[in-house]
Amino acid sequence: MSKLPNNRKSDHIDMSFDSVPDHQKRMLGSSYEPLLSAHPQNTDIIKKTFLGFDFGMPLWVSSMTGGTEKAHHINHNLARACGEFQLGMGLGSCRPLLDSDDRLNDFDVKHLMNGAPLFINLGIAQLETVTIGDINILIDRLNADGLAIHVNPLQEWAQKEGDRYTKAPIETITSICENLNHPIIVKEVGQGMGPQSLKALMDLPIAAIELAGYGGTNFSILEMQRGGVDASDPSAAFGYVGHTTQEMIGFLNDINRDKKSDIEIIISGGIKDPLSGHILMQELHMNSVIGMASNILKYAMQDYDILQRYLCDVQECFAMAQAYIKP
Ligand SMILES: Cc1cc2nc3c(=O)[nH]c(=O)nc-3n(C[C@H](O)[C@H](O)[C@H](O)COP(=O)(O)O)c2cc1C
Repeated sequence: MSKLPNNRKSDHIDMSFDSVPDHQKRMLGSSYEPLLSAHPQNTDIIKKTFLGFDFGMPLWVSSMTGGTEKAHHINHNLARACGEFQLGMGLGSCRPLLDSDDRLNDFDVKHLMNGAPLFINLGIAQLETVTIGDINILIDRLNADGLAIHVNPLQEWAQKEGDRYTKAPIETITSICENLNHPIIVKEVGQGMGPQSLKALMDLPIAAIELAGYGGTNFSILEMQRGGVDASDPSAAFGYVGHTTQEMIGFLNDINRDKKSDIEIIISGGIKDPLSGHILMQELHMNSVIGMASNILKYAMQDYDILQRYLCDVQECFAMAQAYIKP
């Protein structure tokens, strides 16, 4: 609730000396245009079409969890929110479902989503061994709309019990593209990818790339910490390689200048707030939405109304950004 006017005036005097912004925090890459729009009356201005679905705002819930007790609550909360706000969602790795149905209920959330898109998630290591029939069965059982493939060679290597790829991931992805009749998203898990990998993906008939760039959740570092690897270990530096979303947007714009691809992009990896996401979307010359994992997770672990309140705030911030922050 806003304060009474006389308190507000007195607050202004008391607090004005502390309100000078830190120059380091200024949002770069944007043009603030205060004269050209009224305050948004509703959130219609942030609706968009992505992967052929109507989104209530440009937000994708990045793949996170499954196969644990906590996952059931988190995935159900997230799916319900996707239904209410019309957002897309990637499931966490569905690997546990390849071996048994024990954790099917954690992932079985499409009925909560009010028609919003849901993608199953498998890693390259599993995709080297499963059949197209196995993938189709999984997609059908979860009523999902497609497959998200995670490519994470550094994480697998850093993980003591991790898998090893026997082929270049691009070969595995190419073969799946040739045989699967569902849309495919290809993603990293927090270290992004360089221009040659992006270019190779843009030659394939995939629906989207999720950037999962460097600067947010980093699974190589996480696995090294789990394994007790310290800074003096020769492998430790691998946690610090990768490409930020900003860098990858530059690569994509360069590649797309000649190609004019209709692949769509989920801009993710360390996105903390809708305004920085909005600025990145404006920089990229391809149809895109913002992807968030750990930031949403904090709210999804709690009661639904806390997640709902957070997403209402996110929606309002996207609308304000759309009204006043221009390319
Ligand atoms: C708890 C957690 C679990 C994740 N599990 C998966 C996963 O199973 N499969 C996957 O492709 N990515 C997974 N990710 C990676 C995210 O989808 C995303 O690419 C990455 O975390 C960057 O987003 P962020 O910086 O917003 O967290 C996970 C992320 C988090 C935080």
